[in-house]
Amino acid sequence: MSSAADCARSWDAAAAGWNHHSTLIRPWLQGITQTMLDDARIAPGMRVLDVAAGAGDQTLDIARRVGPHGRVVATDLSPGILALAQANAAAAGLAQVSTQVSDAQALGLAGAGFDAAICRLGLMFCSAPLMALSSIRLALRPHGRFSALVFGPPERNPCLRIAFAAARKHRQLAGAETGRSASPDDAGALMSLGKPGLLHELLVDAGFADVAVRSVPAPFFASSAAHYVDFLRSSASPLMALLQPLAQSEQQAAWSDMTEHLRKFDIPGGWRGPNQLLQCTAVSPA
Ligand SMILES: C[S@@+](CC[C@H](N)C(=O)[O-])C[C@H]1O[C@@H](n2cnc3c(N)ncnc32)[C@H](O)[C@@H]1O
Repeated sequence: MSSAADCARSWDAAAAGWNHHSTLIRPWLQGITQTMLDDARIAPGMRVLDVAAGAGDQTLDIARRVGPHGRVVATDLSPGILALAQANAAAAGLAQVSTQVSDAQALGLAGAGFDAAICRLGLMFCSAPLMALSSIRLALRPHGRFSALVFGPPERNPCLRIAFAAARKHRQLAGAETGRSASPDDAGALMSLGKPGLLHELLVDAGFADVAVRSVPAPFFASSAAHYVDFLRSSASPLMALLQPLAQSEQQAAWSDMTEHLRKFDIPGGWRGPNQLLQCTAVSPA
């Protein structure tokens, strides 16, 4: 992503797709999300910051845990996706949720004294993750806990690696510049925080204590490779942005090529894409 404004625009474009595919995303992340909320010790009455909240799937889980006397502030760079989070919270009757459009790298919430903070699959999109982590730490009260999920490295996320390789190949075939954002482990890209030890180091450098990072297998289930690609083409903002400059027929060729390669993960009756996530927990010092 070349700038925060580009990133916001491309997530605005993916907002409806991400929200629509919550039927796939929720079962994919449900178990690890509950572990993340347990590790942040989210309990009734707490004030919780949800960073890069997206369409609010995990925001609603947090809101149910804190209950009517707690508060959840859901923040995101994309106004479009955050509007869906607000609508989903309202539809679920969770008045304890409010939203704030803001870049994780400059939350502007220093001294806000949140009891806990969560960030599910958002930190890796920050081209300055240390700034994001520092900004989150400053928003916490002393001893406030933080837990987050990011993607592991490309070699542990072969379906995403395959999808990016196909998108890059078709960009080159179309004569488009590949650009810095074409590689999924560049700064600010999908798997940028997957390098062993990096997330731990950043959390320590941001001033957190009691830092722990663990890897978690997170296979993605869909009815077929085509179903998974259908999810990617409407909700995977970095891939959508990579293919966006191509003509419709060239984009279609890329998605079809991707589908062919991803058939290697077919299982009887469906499709199972291996993924590895990293889950971290850390504490704001006294
Ligand atoms: C993969 S989605 C995850 C959304 C949600 N947390 C979930 O797990 O369903 C990534 C989200 O990160 C947001 N994002 C990307 N860069 C950001 C930044 N610099 N600051 C805040 N949010 C950002 C996007 O707008 C998008 O909503």
